[in-house]
Amino acid sequence: MIYFDNAATTYPKPEVVYQAVNKCMREYCANPGRSGHKLSMEAGRVVLEARELLAELFGTKRSDNIIFGLNATDALNTAIKGLSNKGDHIITTSMEHNSVLRPLKQLESQEIETTIVRCSETGELNLAELEANIKSNTKMIITTHASNVTGTLMPIKEIGEIARRRKLLYIIDTAQTAGTYKLNVSDINVDVLTFTGHKGLMGPQGVGGFYIREGVALRQMREGGTGSSSDSLIQPEILPDKFESGTPNTPGIAGLAAGLKFIKEIGIEQIRKHEEEITSYFLKQLSEIDDIMVYGPQNMLKQAPVVALNIKTKTSAEVSFILDNQFDIATRPGLHCAPLAHQTIGTKGQGAVRFSFGYFNTVDEIDEAIRALKAIAKEECF
Ligand code: ALA
Repeated sequence: MIYFDNAATTYPKPEVVYQAVNKCMREYCANPGRSGHKLSMEAGRVVLEARELLAELFGTKRSDNIIFGLNATDALNTAIKGLSNKGDHIITTSMEHNSVLRPLKQLESQEIETTIVRCSETGELNLAELEANIKSNTKMIITTHASNVTGTLMPIKEIGEIARRRKLLYIIDTAQTAGTYKLNVSDINVDVLTFTGHKGLMGPQGVGGFYIREGVALRQMREGGTGSSSDSLIQPEILPDKFESGTPNTPGIAGLAAGLKFIKEIGIEQIRKHEEEITSYFLKQLSEIDDIMVYGPQNMLKQAPVVALNIKTKTSAEVSFILDNQFDIATRPGLHCAPLAHQTIGTKGQGAVRFSFGYFNTVDEIDEAIRALKAIAKEECF
């Protein structure tokens, strides 16, 4: 099987990730930060190691500002809801995933206003338009780093500068880019950077989180046991405990630590170079096939390794089904939980077939996909 659904979750994982999860489950999966016996200490050490690797990846010295949670959606809900108050105004873009759009919609019922800046047909954001929408009650800007539909990259550094100049908070969703793009929180004016562990960071599903800048007043979404200040009925304010109530996903975090070490060993630039090369190759081959409509910038300086396309007027579900059933190629069709992104690029009705590439994909696999798409376009496979 050829797996081109890495924007949904990367697969396969590096061998060391499987080994780390197995080792954790079998050898030391006690409760970290709680009991203080040898196994608990070992679990705590591995959780700290993962936190430190993430701090290094995101360019911050303070690993306690790295908070673990379930995934990017969980982190975005905490950041969005925990920073907004009645009367606030929040700006986002039309290329966001429902993990941003739905929490914002929910907040509208609490008298929090939102503006969704419409991007171009290739998903690109006009910075002047973003800035023109800032009002006296604007509290924050939230954008993805790369669209999960077209891969279109947002100018996060420039947005961060606008946020700094206009004294706004800036939240970035790096679900599609962490592990593939350099993200240095000292260079970007970001207040909360959310990540998921199971995509470019190569860990298992069920672990993600966020970086929070020192001093940002974020409310926690839940209270509970933290293994610290146990004499108090009040949730501790210290990080990361404030946001990490309950037993964490220790096997997931152990796998994530292994994924992070793998990335460090290969090098983020090397990973991106490979993914960019195969995506460029795919785009070039696609441009030579009639009847295929490709969305997004089609330029690797402007997009992550994600390509959305359609064949004539065929539904994206049908094409993706044929790719899976007749060619053993896994893609994701439909709206990708990003309805406004599809509205922006003009595919709300048809959806699109998304090919998303990862470090383990090869040029030979791209050639297979091109052969399959040519056959489907010529109606040779019914
Ligand atoms: N957000 C993930 C995707 O784009 C699941 O497929």
